[in-house]
Amino acid sequence: MKVFDSPAAWRGFRAGLEAPGFVPTMGALHEGHLSLVRRSQDENPWTVVSVFVNPTQFDEAADLAAYPRQVEDDLDRLREAGVDAVFLPSAEDLYPDDYRYRVSENQLSHRLCGAHRPGHFDGVLTVVLKLLNLVRPARAYFGEKDYQQLQLIRGMAEALFLDVDIVGCPIVREADGLARSSRNRRLAERDRRLAPELYRVIRNSGSAEDAGAELAGLGFEVDYVEDIDARRFAAVRLGEVRLIDNVPLEAGHS
Ligand code: PAF
Repeated sequence: MKVFDSPAAWRGFRAGLEAPGFVPTMGALHEGHLSLVRRSQDENPWTVVSVFVNPTQFDEAADLAAYPRQVEDDLDRLREAGVDAVFLPSAEDLYPDDYRYRVSENQLSHRLCGAHRPGHFDGVLTVVLKLLNLVRPARAYFGEKDYQQLQLIRGMAEALFLDVDIVGCPIVREADGLARSSRNRRLAERDRRLAPELYRVIRNSGSAEDAGAELAGLGFEVDYVEDIDARRFAAVRLGEVRLIDNVPLEAGHS
């Protein structure tokens, strides 16, 4: 597995090679990320993973500071998974403009998570565009846990005529239903026991309003529960940790 820590070194390697499959990540890798890697390996001649904790998508400095960083473990997991190359840029590498130039979307990005995390999706779209321009993949893989993010990245690829297929992959859950997330490891023991209720409640409640009330009653701090286009989206907080999830709605939900 080749590891590149600068855009110049990466570009030198990439020149002349076939387009790879690409899995962008912020590290602290778990089974959800590895499912994206496997899908990319099935569908592409080779696979590159990026690990970059993108500062511009964090709206709270404390959240950025607390985000788990474990690059050596991540590299071990990627090597074991048979990944061909890893791109580990620095913030200086990716933001030579000091974030003067950015991508913004002005509808969907202001709803759901965007309404609670100002500027979050500008940061996501900007870094994903930069990474896609550097990596030049045939396909890029994103998890459906971040469904709103996936829709926005698809929209950006279409609007800006990017020559890449954006591939959405199913949510990977723990045995108790909790969606896999790098943030789960920050849950206090008691909160970890409560966390799977998020999935149970949003799947089973008759309405978004009922789900929000039930989650609040159980002790979650609810950012939102909303039904949009036959899907229910939720974001909650347990202590310092913010969890998101979404489920397709079946007929019968109001
Ligand atoms: O989903 C993530 O891990 C991040 O938002 C992404 C797409 C890697 C951009 O930093």
